[in-house]
This record gives sequence, structure tokens and C-alpha cells, in this order.
Amino acid sequence: MTEAELYSLYKGVFVPSGVHPPHSLKYYEDFTFRPDDIIIVTYPKSGTTWMQEIVPLIVSGGDPASVESLHNWDRVPWLEESRACILNLENRPSPRMLTTHFHYNMMPPGFFQVKPKVIYVMRNPRDVFTSSFHYHGMSSFLVDPGPQSDFLHKFLDGKVMFGSWFDHVKGWLNAEDKDRIMYICYEEMIVDLKDSVSRLAQFLEKPLDSEVIEKIAERCLFKNMKQNNMSNYSAVPPGFMDQTKSDFLRKGIAGDWKNQLTASEAEHFDTVYKDKMKDVKFKFVWD
Ligand code: A3P
Repeated sequence: MTEAELYSLYKGVFVPSGVHPPHSLKYYEDFTFRPDDIIIVTYPKSGTTWMQEIVPLIVSGGDPASVESLHNWDRVPWLEESRACILNLENRPSPRMLTTHFHYNMMPPGFFQVKPKVIYVMRNPRDVFTSSFHYHGMSSFLVDPGPQSDFLHKFLDGKVMFGSWFDHVKGWLNAEDKDRIMYICYEEMIVDLKDSVSRLAQFLEKPLDSEVIEKIAERCLFKNMKQNNMSNYSAVPPGFMDQTKSDFLRKGIAGDWKNQLTASEAEHFDTVYKDKMKDVKFKFVWD
């Protein structure tokens, strides 16, 4: 199906209309944040599910009860998804853990007034593209990606769900009140998950023994998370996500774009990347 059939335009970006109906976007606009809320913010396919495993384990001091009993979408729900409206988030104890794919300039007024904590996860956009290409191929609520080169042009032009990766990352990097935002790259987590968990715990003001940090990191390794039915999307009906086509937790590595992009696609990606990121001072692990 086409963009016109599956997506709606919200604040200038495509959102899949089935999971983000108008009433849920309205719910988000009116949402009452708390200063101790923890918001995981990502462009899709950047490590959202991974962070939805790590953060609850840090907050619980390593107790796996919630990651073993609650699906990731209920454990750290997306504020823009229709489920957020029925989860009674108003009555959840602090600190609440929430997720969003929204760009910085799409965030609702309450977010800017209350200033909750944000963990912003970034990933090499070439790998985001690769992961996204497979994800679109297995998800019926997303536009069929078509040939890879067509999808690449759409991705680079931001004509995909949640818009342009470049705008998303630049918007969040330029956010005000940066002391309440922790920026972390997927690739740093791949290289040293223990160190990443430790830094995340510090940011969340949750002092943890090194033994607990080690246990959390071990649990959140790709091979272990893949076994967790509360996080591997096995509960989603195949009519919605067909994991015989591609697993949701697919490869979990950095650099898979090298197996995906042709030499000329990679070259084109580099040219667009250099141009769009020329004013960005942030040092990305992948550059
Ligand atoms: P791949 O498709 O490259 O494997 P999101 O959760 O934002 O949708 O991102 C999904 C991507 O994160 C997938 O990438 C998935 O495999 C990867 N991922 C999820 N959990 C991971 C983990 N524990 N370790 C490494 N990668 C993980």
C-alpha cells in the first residue's frame, strides 16, 4: 500500500495512521509530564527496543520482573501510540519511563515547561536505513519499501515514517536545556555495553554496584534479548509483523550497511550526509 493509504502527515512528517490515530496524538499534546519522567527518544531503528530493556533494569536496580512480565511497548510506552491512552500513565509511580520518535520541534508544550530527563539514542544512519529497509519489508502497517534504491532516495529525502533522520538528529542535538539530555550512540553500546549502562545509571542518578551493572549488560546482549518474548516482538501477529521475512531483532551489529548498500549507493549516501551534516559539531562514533 502507498503512503497516502497508510500514513498521515502530522506536524510535517509521516506517521503510520493505524498506530497513531488523531485521538492518540491529541492525548500526547495534552500529556502532563513530571520532572522525573525518563523519556527515551529515537529516530526509528536506532536502538529503541534495546533502551526499553536497559532503562527499566537500571531503574529497578537490576530486578528483571518488569522486563520478564511486560511487553516493551507497555513497559516503556510510546507516547504517540494509541496504547498510551489506555495504560493509565497518570497513575504510574515515578519515575515513569516513556518513549517517543518525535522530533524536538514536535514535542508538546508540557515537555518544554516540565523538562523531564531525555535519553537520545543515535545510530549510524546507514545502519538505520538498512534496519529500516528490512523492517518495512516485514511490517504490513508500513509502506512496502520497493526496490532498495527507491527506498534509499525516500530515506535521504525524509519521505519515510517520522521524516528525515538528519532533521531528527540535528533538532535534538540543538535542543535547549542540554543538561537534562543524555546523548548516546548505538555503536558505543555495541563497543562497551557495561560502560554504557554505567553512564546511563549515573545520568539517571541510580548508583549501582559493578556486579549489578554487569548483570544488566549481560541480560541486554543481543543474543540474550532475542530470547526475551517480552522484547522480541514474537507476540505481534504475523499479519502485522511477519518475522519469517525478517526478525525484529535482526542482526544487532554496527556496520551491516556494508552488506546492504551498493558502492554507488554508499557514495551517494556520503555526499548527502556530508552536505546535510556540514554544520554539525557533534563527533559521531561512526565518522
Ligand atoms: P538491526 O535491524 O540492524 O538488527 P528499534 O528498536 O529502534 O526499532 O531498533 C531496532 C534495531 O536495534 C535492530 O537492528 C535490532 O536488532 C537492534 N537491537 C535491538 N536490541 C539490540 C541489542 N540488545 N543489541 C544490539 N542491537 C539491538
